[in-house]
Amino acid sequence: MKVTVVGTGYVGLVTGACLSEMGNHVLCLDLDASKIQTLLDGGIPIHEPGLEEVVRRNVSAGRLEFTTDVERAVSHGTIQFIAVGTPPDEDGSADLKYVLAAARSIGRTMTDFKVIVDKSTVPVGTGDKVHAAVVDELAKRGVKLDFAICSNPEFLKEGAAVKDFMSPDRVVIGAEDERAILLMRALYAPFIRNRERMMVMDVKSAEFTKYAANAMLATRISFMNELSRLAEKVGADIELVRQGIGSDPRIGTHFLYAGAGYGGSCFPKDVKALARTAADNGMPSKLLTAVEAVNDEQKQVLVQKVVDRYGDDLSGRTFALWGLAFKPNTDDMREAPSRVIIEELAMRGARIQAYDPVAMPEAARVMPASEALNYASGAMAALEGADALVIVTEWREFRTPDFDAIREALKDKLVIDGRNMYDPTLIRTFGLEYRCIGRP
Ligand code: UDX
Repeated sequence: MKVTVVGTGYVGLVTGACLSEMGNHVLCLDLDASKIQTLLDGGIPIHEPGLEEVVRRNVSAGRLEFTTDVERAVSHGTIQFIAVGTPPDEDGSADLKYVLAAARSIGRTMTDFKVIVDKSTVPVGTGDKVHAAVVDELAKRGVKLDFAICSNPEFLKEGAAVKDFMSPDRVVIGAEDERAILLMRALYAPFIRNRERMMVMDVKSAEFTKYAANAMLATRISFMNELSRLAEKVGADIELVRQGIGSDPRIGTHFLYAGAGYGGSCFPKDVKALARTAADNGMPSKLLTAVEAVNDEQKQVLVQKVVDRYGDDLSGRTFALWGLAFKPNTDDMREAPSRVIIEELAMRGARIQAYDPVAMPEAARVMPASEALNYASGAMAALEGADALVIVTEWREFRTPDFDAIREALKDKLVIDGRNMYDPTLIRTFGLEYRCIGRP
């Protein structure tokens, strides 16, 4: 099939690349000429395992193309994915200006039937707005053309996006037009073996599903984070509690890890946006407000552990910090807990020597090196001259480090671990003091 993807950001690029992998002829449009040039030169603007190979393979097969030419892009695909950004505006609601601009450019240029698919995460009711924008542009041209609106939310995890797209646990298609449903089913059929995992519903329910999924996952995390603080007070071990409850199939084992707080491009933004929708509909959500508040507090927990140990004045202290990205296998720094932690420690006069296997260039872009912050060449190099080590992101290479070397390098032999990476008994046998999340 001929598919156009508007927006070559994270979601758009993965969608375009993976659809071309199944034989579709995909044209990706972006108005950012430098981004398109990077892609045309064979570069990939984001770090995502497996993406480069898929892009390269399909570009050389001629199935995946990139352009800044709106007219060409609109005329190319019967299916037009809109995968542009929806940044939160000041009041927390999703800003739809890019989505609606994309819809308008389709309406301005189309000459035959199109299925216009919202892939961006958009509030309930956006399908109607997209529809209205296209109708308006067609009316301005004085032409009558048939088109259908579809909502097809993505559930990709950063770091596993290609895998998630190629074998999704479900595909949600929100559409009411018969032709659109047929085309979307056909497009996704090769990705899904179990037909029941393809869920066709109305547009609004599909839009809502995406927010409900992310809000539920964020709620689980905040719930466990709050319990972890209580566990510390009463002397229980949150890791054992997690195993104890996760074995109940009604609860399940996923997304119950207490940590340094959730970050990334989705959870913080989507929880805010859903809370906004609730408020706008006259029923402010107590639950979502709490989920967000608990997460904001959780990003301070590691700072609090440092302050508990060293007091509020950290001048003259140096801390090694492992892990900058909001989670492993990505260089994404959006809403990363490390940013809050570094800022808070630096504000109290500390120096930070940070290391991340992948995210340092991106981190240096959003937090340039300074008197208070420098980026180390390796995990062990970050420890040189440091009082203590603070771990923020659970990269694999931190899993089984040389504990003897850590002890020798750190002045205070103290490890503060925001991801519960180590067995507390084991690490203490190496002569290290260990403070983690929700464990005695
Ligand atoms: C998330 C959703 O999982 C995905 O379906 C949606 O499409 C986009 O948002 P992503 O943001 O890539 O994906 O990251 P995810 O792996 O879900 O982790 C989100 C955050 O939660 C990370 O900061 C992670 O550290 C944190 N987390 C996750 C926990 O603190 N504890 C957990 O148990 C799980």
